[in-house]
Amino acid sequence: MSNTSDTATIIPLDNVDPALVEALLDRAFEPERHKRTAYKVREGMEWLPALSFAAMDENDMLVGTIQCWPVALTDDDSRAHPMIMVGPVAVLPEQQNRGYGQALMSAAMACIDDRAPLPQVLIGDPEYYGRFWGFTNASTGGWALPGPFEAHRLLVRCANPAVLPEKGNLGPWTR
Ligand SMILES: CC(C)(COP(=O)(O)OP(=O)(O)OC[C@H]1O[C@@H](n2cnc3c(N)ncnc32)[C@H](O)[C@@H]1OP(=O)(O)O)[C@@H](O)C(=O)NCCC(=O)NCCS
Repeated sequence: MSNTSDTATIIPLDNVDPALVEALLDRAFEPERHKRTAYKVREGMEWLPALSFAAMDENDMLVGTIQCWPVALTDDDSRAHPMIMVGPVAVLPEQQNRGYGQALMSAAMACIDDRAPLPQVLIGDPEYYGRFWGFTNASTGGWALPGPFEAHRLLVRCANPAVLPEKGNLGPWTR
C-alpha cells in the first residue's frame, strides 16, 4: 500500500461545495445509496459541521469525505440516549487504500470531546472500524434500525459500554 495520508489535507466539510460531496458519494457507493437503512436512521438530521471533514489530495482535489450525525437510541422506557452516527466514510475508488479513510476517521474521532463523549455508532465492516478505532458489535445485538441491516455490521464505540442500553431503536435525535 502506498500510504498518502501524510500528504492528505483534511479540511472542514462545510468548506466544500455540497454538489461535489454528493458527486463523490455517488461514485463511492451504489446509485441506490439513498435507500440504505443508514439514511433512514438519520433522516431529517443535518450533519454535524464540527465532526465532518473532507480529504484533499496533493493537487487540492476532493478525494474523500466523512459526515457525522445526531441520532438517538430509544430504549424500552422511551428514554432517548443521544449518540453520534459516523458515516458515510467515502473515498474515491481510484484513491482507496492510500490512507485517506484512516485520515478522515482520525480527524472525526479526534474532535470528540473526551470529557463528555457520546457513544459513536456506525454501520460498516467490523474488521476495518474495529482494527483502527475499537468499534465493536458486542453491545448492539438488541438494537433495531428502521430498515434491513446486517447485525454484525452495527458497531459502536463507547468509553464506558456499561451505559449502553441492551435494547432500543436507533433513529434521528429529535429531542
Ligand atoms: C471503506 C473506505 C472508506 C476505506 O478508505 P480507504 O482510504 O480505502 O482505506 P485506508 O487507506 O484508510 O485503509 C486501508 C487499510 O484498510 C483496509 N480496509 C479498507 N477497507 C476495508 C474494509 N471494508 N474491511 C476491512 N479492511 C479494509 C485495507 O485492506 C488496508 O489495510 P492494510 O493497511 O493492511 O493494507 C473506502 O474503501 C470506501 O470509500 N469504500 C466505499 C464506501 C464504503 O463502503 N464506506 C464505508 C461504509 S460507510
